[in-house]
Amino acid sequence: MKAAVVRSSGELAVSEVPEPVPGPGQVLVDIDAIGVGYVDVMARRGEYPYFPGEGAVPGLEAAGRVTAVGPDAPEGLAGQRVLALPAFGGYAEKVVVDADRVLPAPRGADAADVVGLGVNALVAEVALHRAAVAAGERVLVRGAGGGIGVHATRIAHARGAEVTVVTSSPARGERLRALGAARVVDRTQSAVPEETYDVVVDTVAGPELGEHLGLLRPNGRYVLCGGAGGVPGPESFGPLLSDFHKSPTLFALSLNSVSPEDLRLSWERITALLAEGRLSAVLDRRFPLTEAEAALRRVESGKVFGKVVLLPR
Ligand SMILES: NC(=O)c1ccc[n+]([C@@H]2O[C@H](COP(=O)([O-])OP(=O)(O)OC[C@H]3O[C@@H](n4cnc5c(N)ncnc54)[C@H](OP(=O)(O)O)[C@@H]3O)[C@@H](O)[C@H]2O)c1
Repeated sequence: MKAAVVRSSGELAVSEVPEPVPGPGQVLVDIDAIGVGYVDVMARRGEYPYFPGEGAVPGLEAAGRVTAVGPDAPEGLAGQRVLALPAFGGYAEKVVVDADRVLPAPRGADAADVVGLGVNALVAEVALHRAAVAAGERVLVRGAGGGIGVHATRIAHARGAEVTVVTSSPARGERLRALGAARVVDRTQSAVPEETYDVVVDTVAGPELGEHLGLLRPNGRYVLCGGAGGVPGPESFGPLLSDFHKSPTLFALSLNSVSPEDLRLSWERITALLAEGRLSAVLDRRFPLTEAEAALRRVESGKVFGKVVLLPR
């Protein structure tokens, strides 16, 4: 089968590789669409701890059909259309994945839409669920035009929150307003918003993390979901002590540590929002698998709005 493999230069090249075989508790998925995320950029730069590097195939999410079931995996998965969340290997025509890391594709959604929700909607939904965002609360989303950010904006709005987004241009701000943002902060004009928030969903981190942490209202919750702006220094966490009287909460969220049961429950809530028309995939561009390098560069450029998708055929 074809797969995009990381070369010694760090670039991706599509090559013929052996077809994977599902082991105990695993299934084989024939892939129709692959999600490309910033995490793949970090992986190929050697900034993601679990990625083996040269010779490995990136890709943490793919949509397709289960075509083989390994020993001890549920037989009922055979033939099902699914969202697969493999531990890498997704930039390929086929991937093996643990059976408890596949979720049912929503009825009527095509494969690109399934990955257009995928990991990003799961991160956004679990973040807002764990932060227990309530109607009427004020939510700030950093990295709002990115893959996770667009869903965080939409889902926070669907939960009845008043959403402010931080983004990088008026045009992106307008698109985010259409997804439910009540206010837009253009980070190219002002580095940090001036108001305070009950919940911050942050996919950027970077040197301005501390200033954003300082925007929490009393009993506010700050969910750190990613680091598209780089790793912040220890001084960024100062507001946790200087604002002690406000009882701030900071928690990190990685889907890696979310249990299969919590993933399933979150996916059910996402599927329900989809069915109600209150959530949809936001697709940036589609590339053929043979142009995986170009797709990754597009994500690396920071100019994506929503999800970049690879199509294996
Ligand atoms: N928690 C998890 O389990 C999980 C899962 C997947 C990914 N992630 C991580 O989450 C982060 C975002 O992923 P993604 O796929 O949403 O990425 P993405 O689609 O590239 O979006 C990131 C967004 O952040 C903003 N941004 C980029 N560079 C910035 C900078 N230097 N300063 C301020 N804002 C900047 C841009 O949005 P605007 O132009 O609109 O500001 C950009 O579109 C990555 O670090 C990724 O590794 C975490």
